[in-house]
Amino acid sequence: MRRVAIYPGAFDPITLGHLSIVNRSLRVVDDLIIAVAHDSIKKTSFSVEQRCAMIERDIAKYLDYRAYQRVVIKDFKGLLIDFAPQQNAKLIIRGLRTVSDLEYEFQLFSANAKLAPEIETLFLPATDAACFISSTIVKEIARLGGDISKFVSEQTAQTLKQHFQQ
Ligand code: COA
Repeated sequence: MRRVAIYPGAFDPITLGHLSIVNRSLRVVDDLIIAVAHDSIKKTSFSVEQRCAMIERDIAKYLDYRAYQRVVIKDFKGLLIDFAPQQNAKLIIRGLRTVSDLEYEFQLFSANAKLAPEIETLFLPATDAACFISSTIVKEIARLGGDISKFVSEQTAQTLKQHFQQ
């Protein structure tokens, strides 16, 4: 049986840090569903369609063909633990960047584990370069006309530039 995992997030927008987690997840799972949340606590700058399109473009560029074939992108509404079983996923992947992520991640993990104990969570530590990236910081730099090429793909950087020029 194939091991299916789900990597949820708002991805507003996807960063190189997220791409690194996608890439490394594929070393431990057979299939990965990148689950793009409609319902995030935060207000997003990009529509769910725009966020999915940016992810699609980036994974096509950054993953080799074999890895790319094992990834699907899906948007979801409602609770993650309701969406995961619909996708036959029993594993949630989360990236951990800094110690400050830990508290929030434990809360999320505990809530999900109480609601759906059959679903396991796997944490992957962020690589050095991604430790201090967040989508909000990337957007703030882009909004102020800074260089975000070290944080997002060239294509996403272009999309952000156009978005903030409007
Ligand atoms: N590299 C770089 N940045 C990363 C990263 C990585 N590896 N991993 C996370 N980040 C950034 C994100 O871009 C995000 O930045 P931002 O806060 O500036 O937007 C931040 O870290 C937090 O990311 P994350 O914890 O994944 O939050 P999120 O808002 O992207 O996603 C959901 C949260 C969607 C997973 C969560 O709200 C959810 O599951 N929602 C569905 C409803 C539900 O089931 N809720 C849970 C009830 S307990």
